[in-house]
Amino acid sequence: MPASKLILDGDYGIDDAMAALYLCHHPDVEILAVGTVHGNATAAVAAKNALSVLAIGGRRGVPVAVGARRPLAQPVDISSMVHGDDGLGGRAPELPQGTNPLDIPAALQIVRTVRNHPGDCTIVATGPLTNLALALMLDPDVASMVEKVVIMGGTIDHPGNISPYAEANIAHDPEAAKLVFESAWPVTQVGLDVTMSAWIGPEELQRIESSQTAAGRFCWDILQHYLQFYSTRHSRPGCPLHDPSAALVALDASLVSRSFATPVDVELRSATNRGMLIVDKREFAAEHHHPGQPNVEVVTELENDRLIPTFIEGLLAEPTVMAP
Ligand code: BDR
Ligand code: CA
Repeated sequence: MPASKLILDGDYGIDDAMAALYLCHHPDVEILAVGTVHGNATAAVAAKNALSVLAIGGRRGVPVAVGARRPLAQPVDISSMVHGDDGLGGRAPELPQGTNPLDIPAALQIVRTVRNHPGDCTIVATGPLTNLALALMLDPDVASMVEKVVIMGGTIDHPGNISPYAEANIAHDPEAAKLVFESAWPVTQVGLDVTMSAWIGPEELQRIESSQTAAGRFCWDILQHYLQFYSTRHSRPGCPLHDPSAALVALDASLVSRSFATPVDVELRSATNRGMLIVDKREFAAEHHHPGQPNVEVVTELENDRLIPTFIEGLLAEPTVMAP
């Protein structure tokens, strides 16, 4: 199987870390570059977390670039209530010895990496979309040079998580999200409509708790804060696989059992609904009512019976250490 070449962009909180570990362990994944962004932690703290996660996952050599410190048009807002002050539930490891972020910004790293692998790489975005928007502003041509862009973000029918109608990654930078959705990137949107059902409960948690792998022990540690947070919000025990769902969809599109193509708009003006996604759900809306506008593939159902066990299996697998 040819390797999937990935650029990861995220805010390196608890579920970003789990998604990245799954990808690190996957034998058919080449991680070309990692960029970090404000969101669950500051972009700088997120870079430290990313370097730690890559080291745990056996991929020390992957370059990590610090990205946007703030959104395009609003003040920065860090989700420490969900992910802890260090982004990893208070259990962030020390920066692995001999590792450091690059001295170029993540948006520039995206542009350079895409240009070095034209038509051949996939971007998996698991945080606010500021770096992707900046990359498009720096070099709009990169939009037609990637295979696909899979983002965890937004919600259509499911309630929001940061406000009644908005999901955190979009609400943390709605202007950036609008630029990305309206660009020529081939975007697949994996939002709360599906990630809230990709839920791990007592059975999966038991497997993580009893794992003796480095990734298993690390995940069990960082999950404690996340599980505590979700227990205050939902009666169901466990937590959703937000970012891991996007990572798995990026590798295997057959995990998507239902989706539709539509232009996606982002609400920017309303104070209460800022960051809400607006889509036209009329049948054939994309072809008949919005000709010429770029479509986003909106995922509405995942094969969770396959996705969840595949994720747990891969997460807890012993990594093959890749040479730096
Ligand atoms: C998204 O927001 C972040 O807190 C998570 O890491 C995930 O990317 C879920 O709304
Ligand atoms: Ca994230």
